[in-house]
Amino acid sequence: MRIYKAKDYADMSRKAANIISAQVIIKPNSVLGLATGSSPIGAYRQLIEWYRKGDVDFRKVTSINLDEYRGLPQSDPQSYSYFMHQYFFDHVNVCPQNIHIPDGMAPDPQEECRRYDTLIQACGGIDLQLLGIGHNGHIGFNEPGEAFEKRTHCVSLSSSTIEANKRFFDNEESVPRQAYTMGMRSIMQAKQILLIVSGEEKAEIVKEAFCGPVTPQVPASALQLHNNVTLVGDQAALSLIPDGGIDE
Ligand code: F6R
Repeated sequence: MRIYKAKDYADMSRKAANIISAQVIIKPNSVLGLATGSSPIGAYRQLIEWYRKGDVDFRKVTSINLDEYRGLPQSDPQSYSYFMHQYFFDHVNVCPQNIHIPDGMAPDPQEECRRYDTLIQACGGIDLQLLGIGHNGHIGFNEPGEAFEKRTHCVSLSSSTIEANKRFFDNEESVPRQAYTMGMRSIMQAKQILLIVSGEEKAEIVKEAFCGPVTPQVPASALQLHNNVTLVGDQAALSLIPDGGIDE
């Protein structure tokens, strides 16, 4: 695993955008697994800037998002589909037909999960998977549990995730209780994984995930078993990693 220590959020975002744009430049028809949340917003902004300058081109890219709240339509400003358009897709030239996000309004959840797994396979798997990490160690919405969930599934969100995500909603009651998430198999089969993290409040879980035992109680710990993971964190988030990461 490569660890890049960034000075702050802006530096983390630039380093992450560098890795993503390198992937797209080397392989223009890359399949990118994308994430929402606070962590990737800066990287998306940086990619948009480089796109506007003509340095990176998303025309042939396919994007497959990690997750979506169940019960929210794409038009809902809290949906992950809305987020992705707002912060990224509406500003670059990814073709609309190449954008994939679980359908929060699908009538049959099991069918929607099957459809998503089939789609990921049909795209040939993921070249680069971008991840954030939840305070409880979740990746996507793969929440702590007794076993790693391999396939796309519909998950009941843990109370700590509802608590963490309420900042985006009017109140805690408005946070959807369920979400679709890509499973651990699709994430672990990605050729390259890029996890970005910032802030002191994530330092403890970063240490647990990358220095502790591999356990489904900390879903991100499975990444220790992947052979091409890059962790880009700011100093605060990496402060409890024993050697403090590797300065670039
Ligand atoms: C979002 C996602 C989540 C977030 C995680 C961290 O698509 O899959 O796992 O990456 O909850 O969220 P932030 O970046 O808001 O701290």
